[in-house]
Amino acid sequence: MEVSTSIERTQFAEDVLRGLTSTPKQLSSRYFYDDEGSRLFIEIMGLPEYYLTRAEMKIFTEQTEAIYAAFVNGSDSLDLIELGAGDGTKTAVLIEHFLKRRLDFTYSPTDISQEANDALQARFRDKFPDLRIKPHTGDYFKVLESLRNGSDRRKVLMFLGSNIGNFSQEKALEFFRSIRSVLNANDRLFIGFDMQKDPRVIVRAYDDPLGVTAAFNLNLLRRINRELDADFDLTKFSHYAQYRPLECAARSFLISREKQSVTIKALDRSFDLEQWEAIFMEISQKYTHAMIEELASESGFAIETEFYDEENFYIDSLWRPI
Ligand SMILES: C[S@@+](CC[C@H](N)C(=O)[O-])C[C@H]1O[C@@H](n2cnc3c(N)ncnc32)[C@H](O)[C@@H]1O
Repeated sequence: MEVSTSIERTQFAEDVLRGLTSTPKQLSSRYFYDDEGSRLFIEIMGLPEYYLTRAEMKIFTEQTEAIYAAFVNGSDSLDLIELGAGDGTKTAVLIEHFLKRRLDFTYSPTDISQEANDALQARFRDKFPDLRIKPHTGDYFKVLESLRNGSDRRKVLMFLGSNIGNFSQEKALEFFRSIRSVLNANDRLFIGFDMQKDPRVIVRAYDDPLGVTAAFNLNLLRRINRELDADFDLTKFSHYAQYRPLECAARSFLISREKQSVTIKALDRSFDLEQWEAIFMEISQKYTHAMIEELASESGFAIETEFYDEENFYIDSLWRPI
């Protein structure tokens, strides 16, 4: 089901052009999630090395009532808005509990990927026939604007799965400030942060031995071939991931195994790559508690409650506007 609109495709083409003419070359991880990318990400979430999903799932299954109480906090209804919802498997645990508790709420999943959003909607309508669901396809930043004059009900915005890790620290601050500007005093923001830990554990999560993460990264080249009429030869690239402990960040790259030229017909131009030249694909920022506190206070929030897993691998942090 490949149904991107011409506006999305133009934006995609512009971003690819900007990325491949930058130094170093880069491609944006927001375009990973076409049909195949969404399928591969579900496979990644099931890998033993990808501890992030398991840790957040454990927090949700073991602390469901505490999360419910913190979200509701005396309100009789709420709007639950999820940014970058993906397949929503973890969120389903919360939704099931909220429905059991007969909370009056609507759930609005937002995702840039039409495919991911359609699949989530179909599954949730089937699993939760009583759920009021209002899905939205689009970029997080654009969705925020639509919330500015939304309902007066308490809003809880969720940003799970360490999505924030894909932002540079500057971009994360800008993002939280934009969120802050559309929230009222009684609204809350709930964010999943992946914590700093043994670098070996982190790097394995982005470089699994079965090569699923490699396939996930390479799939973006396949998407460019298909949607922008390009001729990337995937066998001439290899995936490489590293973790830099001083920056608390994992990075992944596609490395050009030989000197080559790639033509993208939709852009009407070619791009030269040197042998071993790297295309920067994704950052996965890890956090210390001090970094989270600083990010909250610099973007106009205070930490209200935090939910940890038992290994302290991961935190879901609930913020209130100040
Ligand atoms: C790492 S997955 C996480 C999914 C889910 N939150 C979870 O915890 O399993 C990131 C999701 O964010 C979406 N996404 C990435 N960039 C986006 C953007 N700029 N605006 C909206 N959604 C975006 C992707 O399509 C993908 O479904």
